[in-house]
Amino acid sequence: VIKMTDLDLNGKTVLIREDLNVPLNEGEITSTVRVDAAIPSIQAALDKGAAVLVMSHLGRPTEGEFSEEFSLAPVVAYLNEKLSVPVTLAKDYLDGVDAKAGEVVVLENVRFNLGESADDEVLSKKLAALCDVFVMDAFGTAHRAQASTHGVAKYAPVAAAGPLLVNELDALGKALGNPERPLVAIVGGSKVSSKLTVLDAFSKIVDVLVVGGGISNTFVASAGNEVGNSLYEEDLIPEAKRLRETTEVIFATDVRTTKDGFSDWSHDSKTETKKVNEIQADEEIIDYGPESAAKAAEIIKSAKTIIWNGPCGVFEFDAFSKGTETVARAIAESEAFSIAGGGDTLAAIDKFDLANDISYISTGGGAFLEFVEGKELPAVKILEERAKA
Ligand code: 3PG
Repeated sequence: VIKMTDLDLNGKTVLIREDLNVPLNEGEITSTVRVDAAIPSIQAALDKGAAVLVMSHLGRPTEGEFSEEFSLAPVVAYLNEKLSVPVTLAKDYLDGVDAKAGEVVVLENVRFNLGESADDEVLSKKLAALCDVFVMDAFGTAHRAQASTHGVAKYAPVAAAGPLLVNELDALGKALGNPERPLVAIVGGSKVSSKLTVLDAFSKIVDVLVVGGGISNTFVASAGNEVGNSLYEEDLIPEAKRLRETTEVIFATDVRTTKDGFSDWSHDSKTETKKVNEIQADEEIIDYGPESAAKAAEIIKSAKTIIWNGPCGVFEFDAFSKGTETVARAIAESEAFSIAGGGDTLAAIDKFDLANDISYISTGGGAFLEFVEGKELPAVKILEERAKA
């Protein structure tokens, strides 16, 4: 691909697609990870003398309609705090934007444009006509073939990969391509079904696969244990067994359980520690037990490359967070090349304040998983095609 860093951008209008899809709570950004990751790319384009247009989606609004709830205004306010040049928000931009070198104009949520998700040709051409150079930097949205990620790259005078996208692809390539071994993957989260292709892909390349959360529960059940009220997927027990036959899979041998219903969960909910063959019908597995967490930590310690996606328990509540915390700290303390991705995983890293101790934190959720699964990212593929043409 052509890289933005290799281009002369002096006096050019550069349109950068970022993934500024941040979580919001009553208009406040609750995690700035994605914006912070985009800032160096925007700054680099400014430093090269460009007029910078930035575009992104936010959430999943009704396409073709403006709505305040999904406006990028809070992101623009944050960018204004962080960048030393003025950052403005353009609501109507499809017929042209006035931006001078050294300025940043953020285009309002691309999903307010009819045709965005369908990768509409007319819309793509209008976006492409706004710039001299299009830069795809939104790794988190690279798995979407949409007008602002894919179509625009087809028609822009020049289409290049931004620094963040390049870093993400390099880091994931390093972890998955020819990793230093042992390679250990930790896959948590609630359901085997939603991570089946990831588990399958990992089973073929990792030395040890550690599973946590609800995923672990299905493995616990596959070993013949009763799991009481716990979240698990009976129909996926054969898959769990198959994965265990082909790969070393580490799942819980002891667990923390609660008898509280979901609506009663709190930071100081009462838990009990049980071996997995002692779980009662009225109990729900909520976290790894100490023995399981220590075992996972020991395996992490021996790894040279670590990939982490998904928590090992309901870490949002302190009472159920010890397993995830032990695993997260083991990854942070490891000398291995470690990479973490996914919204919940980033939230856990935030909660335990470990962001500086992980080698690479991916801004991708779905894109991270699709890359790991070995799928082609359409927004990257088009850049490769353009570079060849
Ligand atoms: C994400 O949060 O994974 C990306 O921003 C993509 O968002 P989407 O799933 O709404 O396309």
